[in-house]
Amino acid sequence: MQLKHENTNVRTDTHMDLAIMGYGVVGSGVAQLLHQNYESIVARSMQPSLRLKYILDLRAFPGDPYGHLVIRDVQTILEDPEVGIVVETMGGLHPAFAFVLACLEAGKSVVTSNKELVAAKGYELLEAARAHNVNFLFEASVGGGIPILRPLSQCLAANKITEVAGILNGTTNFILTRMFEDDMPFPAALRLAQENGYAEKDPTADIEGHDACRKICILAALAFGRHVYPEQVRTEGISSLRAEDVACASAGGFAIKLLGRAVRLPDGRISATVAPALVPHSCLLANVSDVYNAILVRGDAIGDVIFYGRGAGKLPTASAVVADIIDCGKHVQHRKFFGWDPADPAFVAPAEEDVSAFYIRTVCALAFDLEAAKAALLRQFPGVRWLERPGAAPGELAFLLPPAVESEARAALAENFDVQPETVLRVIEF
Ligand code: HSE
Repeated sequence: MQLKHENTNVRTDTHMDLAIMGYGVVGSGVAQLLHQNYESIVARSMQPSLRLKYILDLRAFPGDPYGHLVIRDVQTILEDPEVGIVVETMGGLHPAFAFVLACLEAGKSVVTSNKELVAAKGYELLEAARAHNVNFLFEASVGGGIPILRPLSQCLAANKITEVAGILNGTTNFILTRMFEDDMPFPAALRLAQENGYAEKDPTADIEGHDACRKICILAALAFGRHVYPEQVRTEGISSLRAEDVACASAGGFAIKLLGRAVRLPDGRISATVAPALVPHSCLLANVSDVYNAILVRGDAIGDVIFYGRGAGKLPTASAVVADIIDCGKHVQHRKFFGWDPADPAFVAPAEEDVSAFYIRTVCALAFDLEAAKAALLRQFPGVRWLERPGAAPGELAFLLPPAVESEARAALAENFDVQPETVLRVIEF
């Protein structure tokens, strides 16, 4: 999409007007929060005023206190020199990317909550912001209201980060919590998540891990200094998780959590994955329930820090967006340095090379010599742990393999079992 945009030389001495592109849950939350805490927000932004001037949306909002601000053409924002900060809460890549790029090129700072946009186009947009001496900030794109990107890039800047991992999706955490605490099968837990307004009608992005994948890409880029595309991250969701796995994990003292994880490897590359994993109850992350998110950062000086809170929702997400607006206000003349290097296909190691402990559940035919297979596995992996659970089907064998390279663990399995495992999950201990 070609948009006309000239640097409109934003005036900062008198006004700092705002525009919101996309007046959905988050966009309307931003307007609400700006109104609710207006005095302190303006004071903290060091601007004389912060006036919401336009709302870009195709819909009309009769009765909404800001309904009169709705416009339909982004050009109005681009051509208005009084608009210095644009909030993008449209979601999706198109037309968000074209609109955000045009705003940056027109000399306007942009704040977004759009993880899909940042994960796919973050490098290009940060470069555009640098070239035009404006800010491009996206604290709300990961963890909703939880402060994580700023702490990672500022407060922890003295550290070499070795790992960032966490529960990055509230919907799936709610579903998993219901599966563990209420013995709900996956479809019923998903339905409940939809009834509560957590999961979308089309829940694919949440349950198949795409949303968490976008977030781990952003965290990895900030932690390790290079753009990571979602296509570089092996992503598994929770839709194929079975009640049998929940029962085996519970019996062994584990929760199952959908974890996004990026780890610095000794050779300088990173490992980046999104997948459900067994987490022992002794770990804090295993006890993060319902729609809550938690993100662990491991640094060489700080050790482990965990950020916990509401990872979604109208006002929690607006809280992070408005904090970015305030930061833009404070950094009009000298933009905030925020950036990373372009992606490199060799930067992310293939997931098959990862070393991890594994949970495996197989269901063997009754004629299968289970004892012989167990003895062979024990010889190969002396640390193997069998998981017993009441009510297991005849022929079910669930066990934990001690840490091994994934490709080697899978080869050992194929050698000892003439059946495809029903489930293979990583076991992660923090
Ligand atoms: N659908 C997301 C979640 C919203 O459930 O966490 C925030 O990205």
